Amino acid sequence: MRVYLETFGCQMNELDSELVRGQLQSLGHQFVLHPDDAQVVLFNTCSVREHAEQKVYSRLGLAGVRKKQGEQLIVGVIGCMAERDGVDLFKRYPQVDLMCGPGELDRLPLLIDNASRADAADRSERVALAGNKSRRSATLQAAEDNLEMLDLSRAFEPVANDAKSKSAYVRITRGCNKFCTYCVVPHTRGAEVHRPPAHIVDECKRLVDAGVIEITLLGQTINHYRYTHGTALTVDGHEAPQVGPGLAAFRKPLGPGARTTTFADLLHRIHEEVPGVQRLRFVTSYPRDFGDDILHVMRDSPRICQYLHVPAQSGSDRLLKAMNRGYTVSEYLEFIDRVTTTLPDCTIGGDIIVGFCGETDEDFEATCELIRRVPYKNNFIFKYSPRPGTVAFDRLTDDVPDSVKRARNNALLALQNSVSARVHEQWVGRTVRVFLEDLRERSAPAQAVHRHVAVSVAGRSTASNPATMPVRQIIGRTPGDLIVALPAPNDAHSMLGSVRTARIVGSKPLLLDGMFAAT
Ligand code: SAH
Ligand code: SF4
Ligand code: F3S
Repeated sequence: MRVYLETFGCQMNELDSELVRGQLQSLGHQFVLHPDDAQVVLFNTCSVREHAEQKVYSRLGLAGVRKKQGEQLIVGVIGCMAERDGVDLFKRYPQVDLMCGPGELDRLPLLIDNASRADAADRSERVALAGNKSRRSATLQAAEDNLEMLDLSRAFEPVANDAKSKSAYVRITRGCNKFCTYCVVPHTRGAEVHRPPAHIVDECKRLVDAGVIEITLLGQTINHYRYTHGTALTVDGHEAPQVGPGLAAFRKPLGPGARTTTFADLLHRIHEEVPGVQRLRFVTSYPRDFGDDILHVMRDSPRICQYLHVPAQSGSDRLLKAMNRGYTVSEYLEFIDRVTTTLPDCTIGGDIIVGFCGETDEDFEATCELIRRVPYKNNFIFKYSPRPGTVAFDRLTDDVPDSVKRARNNALLALQNSVSARVHEQWVGRTVRVFLEDLRERSAPAQAVHRHVAVSVAGRSTASNPATMPVRQIIGRTPGDLIVALPAPNDAHSMLGSVRTARIVGSKPLLLDGMFAAT
């Protein structure tokens, strides 16, 4: 069948979509670029904020209109929204033919097959959600983890010669056990399950053999990766995915003789055993239990990117407690100081939630203070969005008016902009390696290109103005995830997907300007 798949949400979802695509293609389905050409329309959805869900509701509305007009169309909601909203969504949107949670994606082909058979009238055959099962029997679920098969059976065809295909995600941990009070992820993705290191290394090797040069490891709290060998085995004696050890395990040192692969061990192993990976990165770091062992591996392994995405969420201890984040501001800062001391070139990014339940002006000021104090290259700033099913939704009051959330959001963006500008400026004059990803045409202001022409049009420089010159740029990323714009040479297209040397000649708050330099 012809399938259209649209992805919302985080990198986990992007990876899931890739795996789903590979799985369906291997069964003979073809993918199309426009929903109008499809017989099956799938939305891989995100529930993290209400706004993310609204986008999907509007897509479902459009699909509903097509079905009302008599089109034969299978509409599927997969991913986190399916898991969160589940059967309710199925009832409210009769145009939805199938639903599949992120923990059940291996069953998607069967659900599509059921939905395509007109005689399979029973809609319950078209729903696969983990529900509470994902937590109640977490150990059991991990041991017979069908999802592991989905990752392992990933298509390893030679990658196309473009930048997008040369960069790949590899999951090391599924799910999350932290239960931050605002967050749906532990509810939609289930318990924290760690994949066996051998599977991860093997996957990295096969990706590199296929032509991938950049690998980003994925986990919700990635530094909490820990695999104890000799405990979880499959029936045929292979190592199986394993439920996370819980926070207490990080408070005490590993016992003598413990055969454990920590996150630092895993990074080291991939770096040593997969020399073809030119860039090894990871997201998302959790600001507690991030040991010096990880920082040392990062320092000593030239192909591991010195970049941390380590969200603080708030700069107020009171709110961090209400969010159940498990660290204080001073612990966060202590960690940042260890990072900047051990890895002076490491770039740091984060996420902040404004307007969480009970956030006062003082709490907000404390967050501003944190942003002034930490050399963040960027911060994603989100207005708190209450999510049904979370502790904050049930027990706390969403008492910050939207206008205040918006004002705080804007104030933080402006502040972060000035911090970003400072951080980017420090790179001017330095030489960096850049992974080239994209080409873009930018209209340069007329006076910057042809000053004499600009004068003759009296400053009216719009896109259609003949005095505005399009400038072709090639866009890339440093190992520290800073974006670099370089003048595009004639053969720019063939350079995409390669890593080159550049000298940084200028900076803006979120962009570096570079010139190609000899390696
Ligand atoms: N595991 C990561 C975060 C994953 S969710 C971590 O703990 O850092 C990505 C981001 O979405 C979070 O960092 C948070 O800033 C934001 N977020 C999550 N739930 C939210 C909510 N209910 N309202 C607003 N932002 C939210
Ligand atoms: Fe959500 Fe917290 Fe888990 Fe991150 S650590 S995914 S914010 S519950
Ligand atoms: Fe969204 Fe699910 Fe990712 S809720 S952020 S798609 S884990």
